[in-house]
Amino acid sequence: MPTKVRVRLRGVIDNSYDIVIGIKIGGIVHGLLEFPSLKKFVITDSNVGPLYRTYFKRPDFHLLTVPAGERSKSRRSKELLENNLLALGANRDSLIVALGGGMVGDLAGFVAATLLRGIPYIQIPTTLLAQVDSSIGGKVAIDHPLGKNLIGAFYQPQKVYIDIGALKTLPDREFSNGLAEVIKYAAILDSELFDELEQKQSKILSRDEKSLLNIIKRCCELKKSVVEEDEKETDYRRILNFGHTIGHAIERLSKYRIPHGQAVAIGMVAESTMSSHLGILPARHAERITSLLKMYNLPTEIPSTIKLEAIMRATLQDKKVHRGMTHYTLLERIGRARVGVRLSLKQARLLVQS
Ligand SMILES: NC(=O)c1ccc[n+]([C@@H]2O[C@H](COP(=O)([O-])OP(=O)(O)OC[C@H]3O[C@@H](n4cnc5c(N)ncnc54)[C@H](O)[C@@H]3O)[C@@H](O)[C@H]2O)c1
Ligand SMILES: [Zn+2]
Repeated sequence: MPTKVRVRLRGVIDNSYDIVIGIKIGGIVHGLLEFPSLKKFVITDSNVGPLYRTYFKRPDFHLLTVPAGERSKSRRSKELLENNLLALGANRDSLIVALGGGMVGDLAGFVAATLLRGIPYIQIPTTLLAQVDSSIGGKVAIDHPLGKNLIGAFYQPQKVYIDIGALKTLPDREFSNGLAEVIKYAAILDSELFDELEQKQSKILSRDEKSLLNIIKRCCELKKSVVEEDEKETDYRRILNFGHTIGHAIERLSKYRIPHGQAVAIGMVAESTMSSHLGILPARHAERITSLLKMYNLPTEIPSTIKLEAIMRATLQDKKVHRGMTHYTLLERIGRARVGVRLSLKQARLLVQS
């Protein structure tokens, strides 16, 4: 039986929605058909589309496919999709369905946010990262040559459907990218989840559906609680940034050859070290984080090709920099984070090293 996690967002407008977890693709299609929209446009990528095409071979659906890969999260793809959608008669009674990983979710969500000043959309995340992170919270965006996610909006979906079975076909590298985010949630918010990850390594790595369902549900609840607290990312939502200040810098300096999850894993180790050198995190907690990342085949050390000095300088390009001070999310213990620790470049460098 599928379970539901309700995201309650009641600002001026009620933007609340359900995350339905543990439902199969057949059930999802059934659910989509119940939506009172005239036309349903499923936006997907060239890897995911072929896996699910047969489910959407019905007159109510149009399947629109973009090439797989981050390069499709562009203005060009957005424009092409908009042209296609309008030519196919999309209107405010239409529904956009994002079927794929975070790339498709962000792109399709942003198209939905601006087409005709906003048409409803639904997320069907098919990567672990998208299931625990990018499909929840309403951040949608495309990239710009000057940086990732520079053009975007906050636009909440009508629903998120999570089929754990989708993860069966996910390449190992993508699976471990998602696990880095799962470990992040445990480190900042949930010591019990951290224990579970330590204890159930083999089941999780073999993608046992029951174990994954538990973990994904827990992560959705954690992200929901953060998003409900802070829908538009003012302060508290920065808790999710643990490992990301250093992680983003590593990602950029590697010219995105190091994938996000791996860069965040290295970032979490560096930021745990900073926390413990600052005296706010016991050293044994930092050691547990490093060990857990290793258990899930994630890297924990800065590659020798990237200089620490360059990483620290690159953190100054972060959106969270004010007056030369970088705002870090650090840890106080496993399951508890401290948001907005302001450090100068020099202080941060000393803390990573010492
Ligand atoms: N909106 C947010 O809050 C948020 C949060 C985190 C990340 N993101 C964004 O998410 C994106 C990364 O998402 P991602 O890691 O899911 O990458 P992705 O969407 O590029 O997917 C990774 C790869 O897996 C393939 N794939 C997807 N599902 C599959 C399946 N079930 N079986 C086989 N292959 C499959 C894709 O085709 C792609 O090649 C980035 O653009 C990032 O900026 C957004
Ligand atoms: Zn991340």
